[in-house]
Amino acid sequence: MTDSVTWMGAIDWDRRLFDALIPLPDGTSYNAYLIRGSEKTVLLDTVDPTKAEVLLRQLQDVRSIDYIVSHHAEQDHSGAIPDVLERYPEARVITTPKAKPMLIDLLGIDEDRIITVEDGSTISLGDRTLTFIHTPWVHWPETMVTYMPEERILFSGDFFGSHLATTDLYVTDGARVLEAAKRYYAEIMMPFRTIIAKNLAKLEQFDIRTIAPSHGPLYDQPSFIVDAYKAWTSDHLTNIVVLPYISMHGSTGTMVTHLIGALAERGVMVEPFDLAVTDIGKLAIALVDAPTIVVGTPTVLGGPHPSVTYAATLANALRPKTRFAAVIGSYGWGGKAVETVVGSIPNLKVEVVGSVLCKGTPGKDEFVALDGLADTIAGKHREIGVLEVAGDEGDV
Ligand code: FEO
Repeated sequence: MTDSVTWMGAIDWDRRLFDALIPLPDGTSYNAYLIRGSEKTVLLDTVDPTKAEVLLRQLQDVRSIDYIVSHHAEQDHSGAIPDVLERYPEARVITTPKAKPMLIDLLGIDEDRIITVEDGSTISLGDRTLTFIHTPWVHWPETMVTYMPEERILFSGDFFGSHLATTDLYVTDGARVLEAAKRYYAEIMMPFRTIIAKNLAKLEQFDIRTIAPSHGPLYDQPSFIVDAYKAWTSDHLTNIVVLPYISMHGSTGTMVTHLIGALAERGVMVEPFDLAVTDIGKLAIALVDAPTIVVGTPTVLGGPHPSVTYAATLANALRPKTRFAAVIGSYGWGGKAVETVVGSIPNLKVEVVGSVLCKGTPGKDEFVALDGLADTIAGKHREIGVLEVAGDEGDV
């Protein structure tokens, strides 16, 4: 990267799930960085334990490491710390007070080899300086980032990362990286949106030329990702309805198709997700800016389809800034699908703006009701200013 900083990580081209939950369609990388100061040598983070050998091979010509900075105790970055400590018995781990017990609990690291640093503290490597900034909840409560003023590099840990395996060290395909970064934000940062916004504000005091995250390509134009984070963490919404659904025998599917058309006719964009086949990460991305979620479900054993329950539980955990919700679907002889779906999303703090259920196959009455729901949603979007009022020349 520079005369003093070397990227030293591992690209995981074939990983397809993170935390056995989050789809990784484009793989990921675990970025570690070696900084050689005139007096001290520091390794910033390590790699997932499955890639420890890859890191150790890159370190083979490095005679001594004074410190390993652990920005985050999660094992995809800390998992190879024990291997590095074993090879470099003089090395000490630098981390936050909150991360210290985690590193001991998760990895069995000897407590005598861990040094904790307070927010804003610095260490000198000779001709380079490291400033440690506590940034909780990017992605766990113990996380921090490191700023090196001499080269204006922010080593940001999980903050600003993207799950993207690529040979490009820096962002080259902005659209591809932005989608990967938004997916990543939605899945691990969005639940802590207000705290992430505070951390963003905290970093404004630093003059940053390069952002070097722990996953994905680096940013040589920091505003590219900082501005995106500012938008994602703000209250800004767009004119979109997110519509996750399942259809077993076509009734709910027919209703979904009708509602998509009705909303589109009223100028409201829709992103439908058939939960039988969708990448759940795409749904998470869509939830970042959407004011409205409409859930479509058939009734199974008296409640919503289990795939809908899963999606609702996930959406509830991700805490998007959604304002309105509705449920549509079908049933054969009864059940409580609507009540169960609404009851499973308490974190969303939404206004439930309607429900349309049909017995058996939808007909004229249900289509009229869906048109009414589309009217209501369009009206709500106008109220919050994301949909143009008829005759208004303003932005939508
Ligand atoms: Fe990349 Fe939260 O670990």
